[in-house]
Amino acid sequence: MKRKEILDAFNYRFACKLFNKDKKISAEDFDTILEAARLSPSSFGYEPWHFVVVQDMSKREKFSKAFWGGDGKWQTASHLVFALSRKKSDMSPGTEYLNHIMTDVHHIPEEYAQQQSAFFTKFQDVDFGMTKYPEGVIDWSMRQAYIPLANMMTTAAMLKIDSCPMEGFNRVEMDEILDKEFGFDKNQYSLAYAVAFGYRAANPERPKSRQSMDEIVTWIE
Ligand SMILES: Cc1cc2nc3c(=O)[nH]c(=O)nc-3n(C[C@H](O)[C@H](O)[C@H](O)COP(=O)(O)O)c2cc1C
Repeated sequence: MKRKEILDAFNYRFACKLFNKDKKISAEDFDTILEAARLSPSSFGYEPWHFVVVQDMSKREKFSKAFWGGDGKWQTASHLVFALSRKKSDMSPGTEYLNHIMTDVHHIPEEYAQQQSAFFTKFQDVDFGMTKYPEGVIDWSMRQAYIPLANMMTTAAMLKIDSCPMEGFNRVEMDEILDKEFGFDKNQYSLAYAVAFGYRAANPERPKSRQSMDEIVTWIE
């Protein structure tokens, strides 16, 4: 029964605090998780993200001082992903990155691409007003990065793989490390979140706690 399978996966997922260090995710399973990220939707289809998978322990350790919410997870996870969001330097009309998406990914004819750019300018400036404040565009990019996060975690849960999403870090320091140590220009990218994948070392300590449906949903009929 499909409905049960879906809800079983959501109930299986929990924020795993410690992974079994000896159990590695197979390449096929991890590729499926990344494919769920790749196929995720984004506003205008512009994919304002880049995923960095850090496997070497000594490389993971470089983040440890700024990554307080990752403690226990980065040391034990089979796979560790950092989701970088693209800043204004990429996500503005006419940039090389957006031209690449429109031309090489979406195969949009030149004249339609120009129309879309004009429409996108209005969307950013007027409809969402994101160009009116300095962090507007990166905030918009970061919100979208959470769609692949959800898809990756649900895909993992369907494969009985555990995960932990993490925002417990100092963003300025993490961006600095990604720039200095790994060449991800901090003027171009900022870290949205980290997510660890692996197999639980133990079952969750507490049952899931959530508000009731009535508390979070209003139906207007
Ligand atoms: C965006 C986001 C950031 C989070 N950051 C951290 C974190 O840095 N460290 C951590 O251990 N858990 C983190 N969590 C896990 C949450 O605390 C957890 O998902 C929440 O309490 C609900 O519990 P459950 O996921 O086990 O159902 C984060 C969750 C989300 C969605």
